[in-house]
Amino acid sequence: MRTEQLAGDAAGLARAASLLASGALVAFPTETVYGLGADALNGEAVARIYEAKARPAFNPLIVHVASLEAARAIARFSEPAERLAAAFWPGALTLVLPLRPEAGLSPLVTAGLESVALRLPASDLARALLEEAGCPVAAPSANPSGRLSPTTAAHVLAGLGGRIEAVLDGGPAPVGVESTIIGLDPAPALLRPGGVPLEAVEACLGQPLARPQPPQPGENGAKPTAPGQLASHYAPRARLRLNVTEPGPGERLLGFGPVEGATLNLSPSGDLREAAANLFPHLHRLDETEGPIAVSPIPETGLGLAINDRLRRAAAPRD
Ligand code: TXA
Ligand code: MG
Repeated sequence: MRTEQLAGDAAGLARAASLLASGALVAFPTETVYGLGADALNGEAVARIYEAKARPAFNPLIVHVASLEAARAIARFSEPAERLAAAFWPGALTLVLPLRPEAGLSPLVTAGLESVALRLPASDLARALLEEAGCPVAAPSANPSGRLSPTTAAHVLAGLGGRIEAVLDGGPAPVGVESTIIGLDPAPALLRPGGVPLEAVEACLGQPLARPQPPQPGENGAKPTAPGQLASHYAPRARLRLNVTEPGPGERLLGFGPVEGATLNLSPSGDLREAAANLFPHLHRLDETEGPIAVSPIPETGLGLAINDRLRRAAAPRD
């Protein structure tokens, strides 16, 4: 199939919305990364997401909605859920909440779970698309499963071109790492660090949350206990070595902060927001040529949690 490249204007938006509503797969920009969208009420369309990405069927998908009312129609909101939504939506936060079965989501979206992951994105183009499509949209990141996440329409086309109906181009994703996922089942838990710093979530809830344990080598293939926690994920083709201050012979340095001799630098000034936005684009670029990659140390605070999480998965042994 030929993948339509749609401009992020009114005409592109209208075409993308009508394709989505008719059961097609449409990649679209969000502020975190590009998502691969399908009508979450349409089982056949959702099944094609798993097929296009070659995604393990047990890994459930995030449902994107245009409004808080639409979210409340799909899941039950507890008091802490309401508080988080009020503080961080629209934005880079996903809430895992008890599913309302009467919402009619395809069971493929939740992989049969009784909970659902919901997000109201901040991207204007994403919200306009969701509104115009008129349905909840299931969307994982728009990349082949296990590969680097896409932050541009070009990344999407390189990974999924020919396998999806269209990609809506909204320019580079400004946040650059996926959403922070908080489970509320019912106690709040961090399921994945992401674009909203954990410290901000903790301040909103008035309580600290446990950090998820970094995945152990060899965990791949097992049913994840904290979902989405496959050890090897977000992987470039090249081997990755982390926390490097002295790159070895043949290694290309992905720098952070004022380091010498970096091939690319996530943020020469040591700014974690800039580093998050550059993470996947720089890894995609380094992956265009051969050779191992060494990465400078990155502090484990703020967006550094999400950056280090993605880097550890990219560096994990593949199995
Ligand atoms: O920023 C993002 O979150 C992007 C954009 C496109 O919105 N989406 C994204 O989706 O990263 P994906 O499918 O790559 O990651 C979704 C994560 C998975 O790790 C999955 O296991 C978890 O959400 N998840 C989905 N439903 C869940 C549920 N009911 N319970 C626990 N975890 C769930
Ligand atoms: Mg993903």
